[in-house]
Amino acid sequence: MASSSSSSVAAISMVAFLVLFMGSSSAQLSTSYYSKSCPKVLTTVKSAVQSAVSKERRMGASLLRLFFHDCFVNGCDGSILLDDTSSFTGEQTAGPNNNSIRGLNVVDNIKSNVEKECPGVVSCADILAIAARDSVTILGGPSWDVKLGRRDSKTASLSAANSNIPAPTSSLSTLISRFQAQGLSANDMVALSGTLSLSLSLSLSLSLSLTYGLMETGAHTIGQARCTTFRTRIYNETNIDSSFAKNRQGSCPKTSGSGDNNLAPLDVQTPTGFDNDYYKNLINQKGLLHSDQILFNGGSTDSLVKKYSNNPKTFNSDFAAAMIKMGDIKPLTGSNGEIRKKCGKVN
Ligand code: HEM
Ligand SMILES: *[C@@H]1O[C@H](CO)[C@@H](O)[C@H](O)[C@H]1NC(C)=O
Ligand SMILES: *[C@@H]1O[C@H](CO)[C@@H](O)[C@H](O)[C@H]1NC(C)=O
Repeated sequence: MASSSSSSVAAISMVAFLVLFMGSSSAQLSTSYYSKSCPKVLTTVKSAVQSAVSKERRMGASLLRLFFHDCFVNGCDGSILLDDTSSFTGEQTAGPNNNSIRGLNVVDNIKSNVEKECPGVVSCADILAIAARDSVTILGGPSWDVKLGRRDSKTASLSAANSNIPAPTSSLSTLISRFQAQGLSANDMVALSGTLSLSLSLSLSLSLSLTYGLMETGAHTIGQARCTTFRTRIYNETNIDSSFAKNRQGSCPKTSGSGDNNLAPLDVQTPTGFDNDYYKNLINQKGLLHSDQILFNGGSTDSLVKKYSNNPKTFNSDFAAAMIKMGDIKPLTGSNGEIRKKCGKVN
């Protein structure tokens, strides 16, 4: 008797513990966060994204990437948006961002439209999250309800931007660990290892981060890359379709320094349409980046690539879930951070 009731107490408190900790990384984020304080924010952001993408379809890709590069550097806190000043160096000149990130002025423009409606209410971090979703949807991809309520950082980290954002030259195991480092929050990790066996929680987190990493990289169904990021691949790798390589070599000279900024589409088939062609390209050895093709190269992620190449609906719904998960990375809530007046500088 005594032992069965104490074990049920233990079971109940374990469940309570799990529920508490699983939720806590994003406990205060909610899809209806601004429904009273700024009811029109979603339509305001969407129409600004729509007009930017109508002017230039690539901008949808650029806005999506901004959100990714924000979230992977100390959480989705708008840190990537902070401009350098004489006393402060932000993230924009970090290796993965310098001469590469785009769309900062689109974000500034969205912010100023939103400020006119509800001054001081909506964070830049949330604007990025909404704009990323709208970009994907407008380019033909899935939609999802964006959780909101993030606040903006008062600082940024150049060194974290350099170390956390994966490089296109990464090996598969490095890619997995970069995503694993983000894929589950510290709180999720504590909750899991506190209740499940350690080995189960480790393999769970590994397979989650694998899945999330792989399907988020499906974002490379849109957008462009500079010659400097894929030169070695098109001249020196063997797991590449030869006519594809030859074609890309035509606008990306072998010698480094020449044509470094020449662009090529990440998805050779439908560069501005959000679809699952990215995975079909990998199967045909037409991944543009080393880090793309490595996801289909005889390793542990091959089966997922095949699955997504055959099931656009599964890809869409898994991608949406992964984006929500990415948006949950270490948000600032409560009295942490601030609501910036301008996205480029702290108040
Ligand atoms: C495996 C990890 C990843 C690596 C190594 C990687 C690397 C890169 C590189 C090198 C470029 C080209 C940048 C340039 O030449 O200026 C790029 C572009 C892009 N990336 Fe990734 N990426 C990764 C994951 C992701 C994820 C998770 C997302 C979004 C959820 C994403 C979205 C994009 C988009 C949309 C572009 C095109 C941007 C534009 O045209 O402005 N990437 N990525
Ligand atoms: C960023 O790019 C500019 C322009 O190409 C270059 O002059 C500068 O050295 C780069 N900064 C860093 C930190 O690499
Ligand atoms: C290809 O590999 C060779 C030998 O390692 C190296 O010298 C050369 O710079 C590489 N070329 C490119 C374009 O990466």
